[in-house]
Amino acid sequence: MLDLGLSLLFAIPIMVSNAVPAILGGGYPIDAYRNFFDGKRILGDHKTIQGLISGIFAGFLSGVIVWIISGDFMLSQYNSVGFHFPFWIGVLMGWGCNFGDLFGSFVKRRLNLESGSSLPVFDQMGYILFGLLWSWIAFRMLPWVFWLSLLVIAPLIHITANRLAYLLKIKDVPW
Ligand code: CTP
Ligand code: MG
Repeated sequence: MLDLGLSLLFAIPIMVSNAVPAILGGGYPIDAYRNFFDGKRILGDHKTIQGLISGIFAGFLSGVIVWIISGDFMLSQYNSVGFHFPFWIGVLMGWGCNFGDLFGSFVKRRLNLESGSSLPVFDQMGYILFGLLWSWIAFRMLPWVFWLSLLVIAPLIHITANRLAYLLKIKDVPW
């Protein structure tokens, strides 16, 4: 149970960083409206500079909050692995998760899928895989249960959050 709770706590910057662009994003697209060699858009209109910057920044801020919250744990008897949550790790998690998100859009455009369409598995897993890949720098000493639980829980949270954002009219589509 402890591992599960910790996984959720430590993954907050990834979740936040993935959710914030949908609220604060918009404006000029990262690919500057350019096409790839195949004549299709590189990333599409939905991946904006404002979304990227706000996402990474939100990752950093929520990372600082998790760092403050987890301070007690790091000093506690449960911290048998000597784990330390660095205050700056949110930047890497935010960057990783947004990179994964952009990579997903890149793949979707190659597959002729319109911006906003759904690509199962990629939509739910891409950002978390990349977010975790980058946070591995700081988290590598954590037990495998941590990684496994995140890979299972993250998609569930993603699906729930997107449904909620759709119901609250933050997103146009429920995925
Ligand atoms: N968003 C943004 N900038 C980003 C990422 C997301 O402005 N870098 C905003 C866009 O308004 C986007 C919304 O967040 O529509 C939801 O993001 P996401 O579901 O990741 O994008 P999709 O609309 O599904 O587009 P794509 O098909 O390219 O994945
Ligand atoms: Mg989407």
